[in-house]
Amino acid sequence: MNTQANCDFGMIGLGVMGRNFLLNVADHDFEVIGYDLDPEKVEALNTEKSVSHVQTTNELTAFIQSLKSPRRIMLLVPAGKVVDSVIDSLLPHLSAGDIIIDGGNSHYDDTTHRMKALENANIHFLGMGVSGGEKGARFGPSLMPGGKLEAYEPVRVMLEAAAAKVEGEPCVAFLGKGAAGHYVKMVHNGIEYGIMQLIAEIYDVLRRRGGLTEEQLFTTFSNWNEGALQSFLVEITSDIFRQADDQREGEMLINNILDSAKQKGTGKWTSQSAMDLGVAIPTIDAAVTMRYLSSLREERIKADKLLKGPELKKTEHQEELIAMAHDALHFAMLVTYAQGFAMLKKASDEMGFDLNLVEVSKIWRGGCIIRARMLEDFMQAFAKDDALLNLMVSPAIAEILNRCEGKTRSLLVQCLQQGIPTAALSSCLHYFDSYRTSRLPSNLVQAQRDYFGAHTYERLDKTGAFHTLWGES
Ligand code: 6PG
Repeated sequence: MNTQANCDFGMIGLGVMGRNFLLNVADHDFEVIGYDLDPEKVEALNTEKSVSHVQTTNELTAFIQSLKSPRRIMLLVPAGKVVDSVIDSLLPHLSAGDIIIDGGNSHYDDTTHRMKALENANIHFLGMGVSGGEKGARFGPSLMPGGKLEAYEPVRVMLEAAAAKVEGEPCVAFLGKGAAGHYVKMVHNGIEYGIMQLIAEIYDVLRRRGGLTEEQLFTTFSNWNEGALQSFLVEITSDIFRQADDQREGEMLINNILDSAKQKGTGKWTSQSAMDLGVAIPTIDAAVTMRYLSSLREERIKADKLLKGPELKKTEHQEELIAMAHDALHFAMLVTYAQGFAMLKKASDEMGFDLNLVEVSKIWRGGCIIRARMLEDFMQAFAKDDALLNLMVSPAIAEILNRCEGKTRSLLVQCLQQGIPTAALSSCLHYFDSYRTSRLPSNLVQAQRDYFGAHTYERLDKTGAFHTLWGES
């Protein structure tokens, strides 16, 4: 390779995501260079002969020297300490105004600290969520950058070129200040956990109560994907049901996969941050919790023999059950997005991200894991009312929720009676019912707090804090 500064863009970390994202940028006629210490990863990129404009190296100085000024360097390395050590190794070689983009799933607190430290060294830092997996990285991901607008401008053209497009519009936008980008990606992942768990619960009901075969599950989810539920997660779910097991003749793969779901932690971070902010995201919490419960497989198998529930009976009304499941999934997906967006609104106000939720809905319409037709409606809802606190009270969304509420309730009644666990689905209905209840029983909680701890309470008829000597009159 030459050491002339002729590259527009550099990538550190040539794993699956880094390699594919770099090739994607090169597809748009930018000169790019990839760097990795691992010669095998460099070689893997070298073998992609079909793409021009790509250089590779495993020498950091050569990498730095080949980049035009200001240097635009993206990191796609494992989140955590590796990001810090890569930044430390880069720093002595960089000049004021150079830009580092962290495209990994970094925790937003780490991004805030890194941004401050680099600002002192006059280096720009963008924290950018990248969603869409391997295929997305290669052919069009959804990109969620945040930081300083002046750091975004020099990379805007490249990111817009590489991002997925919906109706010609790129699924990337400058999202806001500080760690806004990584925060939005974290909540994206929280919603991803929620919807995946909802779909899993619907699958369970259709299979155990409805008696649907894999073929019928495939057809049901494919049909759903043609309508209001159209989304990447519904689409891949239908595909999963028709995958044969190549290790066991005549069997479907889904039935031979262990029922313990793993996680890398972004869903948990979403729940932790929501708790800190005081925001209710019960469906995302339930999805995280269900991953933990699913991992207790040995315990569950033992408990199955001891703890009794109702005997599960298959329904005689399969079509009716499918219709209920459709509406319940529609209802629950809307409610899950509503929780995620309400969290973003609160986080933006508290942390000063300055998020524009029209832009967030817009860039989630394509490329990312939670892309779905309904994002279009959310975009319209936030465009009509930029102070909207909760999507559920947008008139267009409220109308769908009110329409689906009855069948959702009927499905959940059956699940309760049959002993089918629906932690995420029922959390959606509880969230909806709580949000629409003008008088909750929390007056009693306040009374109890005041009774045992003199924590005081407020009254409906007067302002101020009151304390009662309970039980003394
Ligand atoms: C994406 C995904 C991705 C995430 C995986 C795995 O947007 O492309 O969110 O970033 O890492 O989905 O997450 P878990 O291992 O935590 O399920």
